[in-house]
Amino acid sequence: MEESEVQSRQVDVCMLRPRVFVTRALPEPGPSILQKYCQVEFWSKDMPPSKSTIIQKAKVVDGFVSFLTDSFDEEVINACDHVKVISQVAVGYDNVDITAATAKNIIVTNTPEVLTETTADFAFALLLATARRVAEADRYVRAGSWKVPWAIDMMVGQDVYQQTLGIIGLGRIGRAVARRAQGFGMKILYFDVTPASDLEKELGIQAVSLDRLLRESDFITLHVPLTPKTQGMIGYQELQKMKPSACLINTSRGAVIDQNALVRALKEDIIAYAGLDVFAEEPISANHPLLFLENVTLAPHIASASTQTRSKMGVMAVENCLAVLRGKIPPNPVNADLAKKLLTSTNAKSNT
Ligand code: GLV
Repeated sequence: MEESEVQSRQVDVCMLRPRVFVTRALPEPGPSILQKYCQVEFWSKDMPPSKSTIIQKAKVVDGFVSFLTDSFDEEVINACDHVKVISQVAVGYDNVDITAATAKNIIVTNTPEVLTETTADFAFALLLATARRVAEADRYVRAGSWKVPWAIDMMVGQDVYQQTLGIIGLGRIGRAVARRAQGFGMKILYFDVTPASDLEKELGIQAVSLDRLLRESDFITLHVPLTPKTQGMIGYQELQKMKPSACLINTSRGAVIDQNALVRALKEDIIAYAGLDVFAEEPISANHPLLFLENVTLAPHIASASTQTRSKMGVMAVENCLAVLRGKIPPNPVNADLAKKLLTSTNAKSNT
């Protein structure tokens, strides 16, 4: 075969490979796997692509590997000409309009399970750090404020062991937090729309009403997805039901808490502490009142951020994307009924 023919065949093969736009850098080995089978464009800037960039790509690509910073709203979905898959590198997918995607026959996938333990580790780390004032103590030492060698009332916080933990949302991450809390001898209450009576003995947990959980817990940790029902579910009224010594931890989505109500409650000593990894707007602005409250521990949405887990999330998203592009049901479909209708094979797992 002549060299020019070889080259032209290579071009043909290349043209047949599906086009995928990855909206941010992805840790290896995900990118290498994807590049073997697809023509891939990676968005290499630190800031996410604009909506107009995503709309532009939506007209030409077969699939997206997306992140929670990308809005796939109805307008973006409607711009998709032959997109078959939006493969989200996150367990949460509130940035994607699932109804619009389903109406357009686009399969949406996410990355559950691989991040469960890492996220639960971080929720517990935030809980401990907040209760024992770790970040505040660090600031105090660095600022040169530590003058007295030791004092009985210096940086006094709250005990965690044997206290009552209230878990709102007993999905995979909520359960993983419960297992950690067992090790601290905590009494564990939970509220979920679907009680898990079969797990109550194993996890040492007790289902209660939201009202009772709010009133009786020393620590409250949120593990619900952001939906119209959970948006603002912790408002001023709910905060007022909590103990004045309560500590509220959020590693789910910022908008689950009414942030203004939380600031007010912390300022008015309605509750004592908060540990927050997620915010209504991310990044939170540098002059937001939460940044000026010593009794709040803040993190920049990093609960799943371990080297191992971020790499696994990338691989899982790539596998989901490739499965759909090959006409197979992906391992983690969000709109599973559509995947079953359009695709073959049955290796799908539930993503809830
Ligand atoms: C992170 O917030 C995720 O949803 O995975």
